[in-house]
Amino acid sequence: MTIIVTSKNGLVGIQAAMEVLRDGGSALDAIEAGIRQVETNPDDHTVGYGGYPNLLGQVELDASIMDGRTLAAGAVGAVRDYPHPISIARKVMEYLPHVLLVGPGAERFAAEMGFEQEDLLTEAARQVWQERLRANMSDETLAQLAAQPDLWRWAKTVTSDPEQVGCTVNFIAQDAQGNIGAGVSTSGLAWKYPGRVGDSPIIGAGIYADNRYGAATCTGVGEMALRAGTARSVVLYLKMGFSLTGAGQQAMADLDDLTASAGGRMNLIALDSAGGHVGFSNAKDTTYLYMTAAMSEPEEAPRLHFPTR
Ligand code: GLY
Repeated sequence: MTIIVTSKNGLVGIQAAMEVLRDGGSALDAIEAGIRQVETNPDDHTVGYGGYPNLLGQVELDASIMDGRTLAAGAVGAVRDYPHPISIARKVMEYLPHVLLVGPGAERFAAEMGFEQEDLLTEAARQVWQERLRANMSDETLAQLAAQPDLWRWAKTVTSDPEQVGCTVNFIAQDAQGNIGAGVSTSGLAWKYPGRVGDSPIIGAGIYADNRYGAATCTGVGEMALRAGTARSVVLYLKMGFSLTGAGQQAMADLDDLTASAGGRMNLIALDSAGGHVGFSNAKDTTYLYMTAAMSEPEEAPRLHFPTR
């Protein structure tokens, strides 16, 4: 079935992605096109341009893409100054004998691939960053923050904005050839420690796709999906014969095994090889989007609520 499933903030890109599929493009082409729209949206403070920065006010982006036909994948982590990490991730997959590049290496590769640099910190995001830090430290400490020998203490102290923390965009698509792909892009947790990489660029944690069974992607506090291998778990449970809902339930239940300071929001969306889809969250009243080629508008569907510790 020709279908796209996204996190709710995928709304700004889902039509562009469907256009690619309607024109006969691949699942990966559709995912990249859709996510690029989200990365461009300055009002989404969890992805790309306009994303909330790290503790030091630097926007660092993570992204990944996976091809369910071949299990090829590409990913980048902690990339600064490039607004479209999803496209860099795709180039990693296509041009390098590697899966994941981070930091300066990823930025060097982006330059080699001809991507344009851009200042990603918008004035709106900078103001919220300053307000959040000022609520926890003096102006003097804030001015000297980069020189603090114990920056790690502030990473533990500065609480992230509960409305914005751990969002991220997820796209899963199945094209007319039946191929499944998945893509994820994020600016990560707001006010994170510099260099912190979440689940989004880690294949198996925040993303997994395999044509034979399906795909899953995560949003939320990446530290949880990293430790539980959530996206790969969903696909593995499908391989083991669970229904799509059963596979999602098992993967959510696995998060309960994370007894050492886990906690936080975790959401997933999943698609099976027959085009069935589901969303889960440990928070109440959340939704995701889906759109088939026969639909003129995406539909919002409730995520199943699965409370975790
Ligand atoms: N889920 C996005 C992150 O934790 O960075």
